[in-house]
Amino acid sequence: MRTISMPEDESDGAIEARLAEQEYFRPPTRFVGQANETDPAVYDRFEENYPEAYAEWADLLEWDSRWDTVLDDSNPPFYEWFKGGTLNASVNAIDRHLPERKDQTALLWEGEPGDTERIAYQDLYRRVNEMAAVYQEVGVREDDIVTLHLPMVPALPISMLSAARIGAPHSAVFGGFSAQALADRIDDADSDVVVTIDGYYRRGEFLDHKAKADEALELAETDVETVLLFKREDELHPDVEITSDDPYVLVDEVLEQKQGARVDPVERDAEDPLFLMYTSGTTGQPKGTQHRTGGYLAHATATSKYVLDIEPEDTYWCSADIGWITGHSYIVYGPLSLGTTSVMYEGAPDAPDKGRIWEIAEKYDVDIFHTSPTAVRMFMEWGEEIPAQYDFDFRHMTTVGEPIQPEAWLWYYEHIGGGDAVIVDTWWQTETGGHLITNLPALKDMKPGSAGHPVPGIKPAVYDDQGHPIEKGSARAGNLVIERPWPGMLQTVYGNDERFIDEYWREFSETDSDDPADWVYKAGDGAVQADDGYFRILGRLDDVMNVAGHRLGTMELESAVAEVEAVANAAVAGREDPQKGTVPDVYVTLRDGYEESEAVRAEIVASIEDQIGKFARPANVWLVEELPQTRSGKIMRRLLEDISNDEELGNTTTLRDPSVPERIREHIDH
Ligand code: WTA
Repeated sequence: MRTISMPEDESDGAIEARLAEQEYFRPPTRFVGQANETDPAVYDRFEENYPEAYAEWADLLEWDSRWDTVLDDSNPPFYEWFKGGTLNASVNAIDRHLPERKDQTALLWEGEPGDTERIAYQDLYRRVNEMAAVYQEVGVREDDIVTLHLPMVPALPISMLSAARIGAPHSAVFGGFSAQALADRIDDADSDVVVTIDGYYRRGEFLDHKAKADEALELAETDVETVLLFKREDELHPDVEITSDDPYVLVDEVLEQKQGARVDPVERDAEDPLFLMYTSGTTGQPKGTQHRTGGYLAHATATSKYVLDIEPEDTYWCSADIGWITGHSYIVYGPLSLGTTSVMYEGAPDAPDKGRIWEIAEKYDVDIFHTSPTAVRMFMEWGEEIPAQYDFDFRHMTTVGEPIQPEAWLWYYEHIGGGDAVIVDTWWQTETGGHLITNLPALKDMKPGSAGHPVPGIKPAVYDDQGHPIEKGSARAGNLVIERPWPGMLQTVYGNDERFIDEYWREFSETDSDDPADWVYKAGDGAVQADDGYFRILGRLDDVMNVAGHRLGTMELESAVAEVEAVANAAVAGREDPQKGTVPDVYVTLRDGYEESEAVRAEIVASIEDQIGKFARPANVWLVEELPQTRSGKIMRRLLEDISNDEELGNTTTLRDPSVPERIREHIDH
């Protein structure tokens, strides 16, 4: 396990002075005046009435039949939420809004080259029904898992919602993942229907996306029966070829036959899975985080309402990708369940120029803006003159995915929010389904650098490595844990209950007990709680890295590197990066007979791109003579991390050869 260090704040003079004089920022009056949650009693109400109070969240949804039990905790950690209730997620996101707002825009899509689509709730209803009919036509039945490998185009939310309509769990694989990563996820889910597209635009270039599906079909063990192929333009891209003996089906051709089709939404049990989302853990194999229908949707919807403060009349924009959990919860399910207008953008933030984000904000008059600290740091580096050229006015802004440094927070507050927008820093994970630690923005003051207070009813704590709670205000950091279940929590790791228990519960729970009080969820993050109750998140403590808000497993990277023939041993360490938060450094020893060369380095990078995706590219590949190993042969990544970050070396006494780290340091010549 990594040691926990408190990050030091680096600041320039003016910002430092400002932050030193002001620790808290009051939410602007104009925000408080209209906020969706202004009753401070909400915290006590959830505390005193846990878990029943979560019925308030579920009541934001439309149910076919109401639940009997809010929480069944008789078999921890396999908790059941809103047991006995039935509902359909696509009805909640679409059908129920039609009487009141069928002509209102649901999805506002902006393509990178400037093409746009406004999809009203009525259009979304039509397109989701027709796509559901396409699924049925190709044989998708309730409980079949469909894999979606799509970029940020309307086909992605439409494919999700239509799968939900027929009760087929979707497994969306981020479009940036490679063919191999796609194949691994298809195999793990044993999914024989894949949805993809011919291509999409990125920095002005048309990327061939179908090529990845072609290759994934070769690599996967699963016999994929059907690949539904969307097209990005009116015509299929001329470079894309389809032969008659492959499993591709042109979605548009089937859609044409299905015009006007209506597909009855399947009534799903609250506990029936809605989707899988693969995420990195501490082994080389990604795990399929399985989310339930009722609890997940209640959590995503309630937090969209009370944390993101979304109103149906708002134009809301979350700049995440729908291929990650943030997009699932806070572009698709939460916002659409509230009947709002959700913006999607296909491309890069600097295409064609660095004003693109603010141009879109101005064009659509966005009210609520949601992005990552990596993006904020990038905007900051580009300079405040850029947003200053555009006319936009946010009421509410969110950050998610990584800790935000107080300096970046203040810059965001002043230069993007104009000092008059509220900011929420939301801590949560793929596994938690929705926000767990973040302020209800009208009720708590903002504190730059701290995610804030727990969401009502959520019970986080900080434990030392022995599992003893650390008192708040003691300034000691420790393991962030959650002491009781919450509605959006994962059900299990798909097909692997053992791994679910091992990864999240084993360390701090009494796993032979059926008393839920003995079960504690380990988040894998380090945190510290100040005496004012605010939680500050310090980053991952396990072998998971957070690269520009993308979650990557060190073991996944290492196994990709190990595929290269020349490589004897490999270890990956996180290097702190001013913009991306962390970037991977790869340390490698070569087999006898192989020489250090640019070609070997290139092969290592290529292998990571092939196995995971280009977004996982390492910052450095260091070819070294030896790796720091203990006497029992374990590689000490922690020491490599010290080297990457040019820090003093930690304890080297357990090393077989304590001089190795210094020799590596000299070799890589900082
Ligand atoms: C990190 C993304 C600090 C954390 C929603 C967590 C954060 C991991 C914050 C989950 C935040 C997320 N402040 N760190 N506000 N939000 N994290 O599964 O390390 O992609 O464990 O979910 O991101 O990443 P994931």
